[in-house]
Amino acid sequence: MTAPLLDVRDLHKAFDVSAPLVARLLSGQGRRTLRAVDGIDFAIPAGGTLALVGESGCGKSTVARCVAGLVPPTAGSVLYRGAPIAEVRRAGSPLRHEIQMIFQDPYGSLNPRWRVGRTVADPILALGLAPSRAEVRDRVAKILEDVGLSPADAEKYPHQFSGGQRQRIAVARALAAAPALIVCDEPTSALDVSVQAQILNLMKDLQAAHGLTYLFISHNLAVVDHMADRVAVMYLGRIVETADRDTLFARPAHPYTRTLMGSALGLGDVGRRREVPKGEVPNPIDPPPGCTFHPRCPHATALCRTEAPALRAFGGGRVACHHAETLG
Ligand SMILES: Nc1ncnc2c1ncn2[C@@H]1O[C@H](COP(=O)(O)OP(=O)(O)O)[C@@H](O)[C@H]1O
Ligand code: SF4
Ligand SMILES: [Mg+2]
Repeated sequence: MTAPLLDVRDLHKAFDVSAPLVARLLSGQGRRTLRAVDGIDFAIPAGGTLALVGESGCGKSTVARCVAGLVPPTAGSVLYRGAPIAEVRRAGSPLRHEIQMIFQDPYGSLNPRWRVGRTVADPILALGLAPSRAEVRDRVAKILEDVGLSPADAEKYPHQFSGGQRQRIAVARALAAAPALIVCDEPTSALDVSVQAQILNLMKDLQAAHGLTYLFISHNLAVVDHMADRVAVMYLGRIVETADRDTLFARPAHPYTRTLMGSALGLGDVGRRREVPKGEVPNPIDPPPGCTFHPRCPHATALCRTEAPALRAFGGGRVACHHAETLG
C-alpha cells in the first residue's frame, strides 16, 4: 500500500479556558481545559476526499487548523507526505504551498482592497510559477476561466461579486498555488441553496482535473454524501464512526450518525434549515463520563454511562459504541 498523502495520528488539541488569575484566586477555581480535539486518527490517500461531519462545536475547524498548520496540536502528529506539518508549513519549505485552505466566509479570506487579478496572481508570483508578467496574466486568466469566472473579472474588486462568485475567487486563489491538498472548512455553508450545488460540482470537477486531495468539513450530511469517498463522524472532539461513504450511508452503525441522518435532507435541500438532533451538545469543558453521547442516546445503558467505548472495527468501518452489534 502506498503511504497516505495526509496522516493524522492521535491528534489532541486542548485550549486553556481558565478565568483570569485574579478571578481564579478569588473563587478558588483551578485552571480549566477544553479538549476541542481529543485523540483522533485518520488518513487520506492522494486524490481522495475525507469528509469530517458533526454538529457545530464538535471540533471540526480545530482539526482543519491543526492540519493546515495554523495552530500547533497539543499532542499527536499530522504528517504530510510523511513529514511533520510544522516542517511542511515552515517559511521556505518546498511543500508549503501544497496545502491550501478554503473557508466558509470567502469575503473574510479575500483582501477587499485588491483586484481579483492581484489576489490570484499573488501566489503565482510568490512561488515563481510563471516567468514573465505576460505569463502570470495568462495563468490568472486561465484559472479564472477554470473556476467559471471571466478573465475580465481580474480587474474587479471582491465587493463587486455575489457570495457564490466570491467563493469561486477563493477557489481560484487556492488553485493558483498549485495545491495538492485543500482543507475545505464548510466552504458552501454560507451560500444560497441554488449556489451551493454549483460550487460543490465545481470543486469535484477541479479535483478530477488537478488530482486534488480534499479534507472536506461540513455539518451537512447531504453535502458530505455528494463530496466524500470516506466519512468520519465527529462528536465532542472524537471520531465516533468512520467508513467509506456508501457503507456509512447504507448502514450507519452509531446512534449519533443515525440521528444526524434522520435530520438530513437531500442535496436539493442543502441550504434549507433542518431539524437538529434532539438534545444539546454537552459542554466540552465538562464532558459527560463514559460515552459522551449517552445523555442523548436512546440506547444508553449503565455501561455507557461509565465506560468510554473505543473506536473499533465494525461492519466494514469503525465505530465507537458498546452496543453496535445489538442495534441491528
Ligand atoms: N481558540 C479557542 N479557544 C478556546 N476554545 C476554542 C477555541 N477554538 C475553538 N474552541 C472551542 O473548541 C470546540 C470546538 O470548536 P470548533 O473546532 O470550532 O468546532 P466546529 O468547527 O465543529 O464547530 C468548541 O467548544 C469551541 O468553543
Ligand atoms: S455506547 Fe451507549 S450511549 Fe454511546 S452511542 Fe453506543 S449505545 Fe449510545
Ligand atoms: Mg467550524
